[in-house]
Amino acid sequence: MKVEGLVAMVTGGGSGMGRDLVVQLAKAGCHVAFCDVSQAGIDETVKLAQATARKGIRVMGGKVDVTDREGLQRFAEEVVSKNNDKLHLLFANAGIASHGPLIHDANATAEQIASKEREWDRCFEIDFFGVLYTLRAFLPHIVRQDKGYVVVTSSVNGFWTWPEHSCYTAAKFGVRGLTESLLVETYAKAPHVQVACVHPGGVRTNIVRNSTFAKNKEGKTSDITGDFDKIAGLSSAEAAEWILDGVARDHTRILVGYDAVLWDKMNRLSPHGGYKVFGALGREGIAQWDPTRASENIVQAKKVSLLGWLRFLKDGGLFFLIFSAPATAMNLIRQLTGASASQVLTLSAILALVKLQRSSRSRI
Ligand SMILES: NC(=O)c1ccc[n+]([C@@H]2O[C@H](COP(=O)([O-])OP(=O)(O)OC[C@H]3O[C@@H](n4cnc5c(N)ncnc54)[C@H](O)[C@@H]3O)[C@@H](O)[C@H]2O)c1
Repeated sequence: MKVEGLVAMVTGGGSGMGRDLVVQLAKAGCHVAFCDVSQAGIDETVKLAQATARKGIRVMGGKVDVTDREGLQRFAEEVVSKNNDKLHLLFANAGIASHGPLIHDANATAEQIASKEREWDRCFEIDFFGVLYTLRAFLPHIVRQDKGYVVVTSSVNGFWTWPEHSCYTAAKFGVRGLTESLLVETYAKAPHVQVACVHPGGVRTNIVRNSTFAKNKEGKTSDITGDFDKIAGLSSAEAAEWILDGVARDHTRILVGYDAVLWDKMNRLSPHGGYKVFGALGREGIAQWDPTRASENIVQAKKVSLLGWLRFLKDGGLFFLIFSAPATAMNLIRQLTGASASQVLTLSAILALVKLQRSSRSRI
């Protein structure tokens, strides 16, 4: 869909991908309204968007929490009344990052367990219910127009997960379910409205910096933020470009970043084999990311059997390992088999292609 001349609404526009969506939409000639909980973030986004917006483009920011149903309803009324009763695009983007184990460390205290349970509630409130309330407030206005596009941000965690990422994953799987339900409902009842679910991989934004798990006991930002910035493949501006490119091409599913494309392939190639291996590897990762938790207190993961590893590799895991950690994977395989690098690469690519060809016939 061409966004020029249309009216858009973005939640969580005070930072990261939301901010860059506001800026790029305004630059493309689209009137934009957005909300956030941070007044400083709102002011900065308005300033940045107005600096590059096309002449005559309206940019309006409001301090609204996506968990506040009445606040969202009021803001939706305000947005359409200030835009001649128009609203065509909705970007339900606001969200927070969260960690939450389902199995606690052997030495976890009652307060630590209770604090993790509160984190679950907060994550669901913002990441799942915040999206639902946003849809309820803005969707009726979009359905009334002659065309519309609802773009909801899930994550790679909307189809794949890793250890101790349970609350965020459950909320983002829920967001994907909600979005795909809306997609099928629009086909039936409002075919003039398009729907897309966005699955970003790692994007360098404030999301990890602002999370509770990035703070150490003294409340200072821990190394995890720097580690995330190193592995995240895209800047927020690049991620917004990927999203708007998906909108321009009328996509219903928008993967953001090459890591997201890879995770998606991995999920199709070897969903359960991948989980087993990542679960086993995850124990060391947890101890490394959070040194306050002694490795011996993290409940021991079941070891993956040799047969399990072989099944994972046969199902395309080899291809995934080589692309995600090329040097380590290649050395390991060459040490084990004595094969040359080109032999390993060729074999892994053939296995992955055969598996992908077979799996793509039966899965979305
Ligand atoms: N950054 C990544 O690597 C990544 C990966 C996958 C998915 N995502 C998703 O992308 C979306 C945008 O995240 P980002 O990375 O740009 O993060 P960000 O922290 O830079 O921006 C999120 C914005 O949402 C706002 N927000 C938080 N809670 C809110 C609430 N209750 N009401 C209104 N606004 C609220 C924040 O103030 C912030 O301005 C989120 O839904 C996130 O889960 C991010």
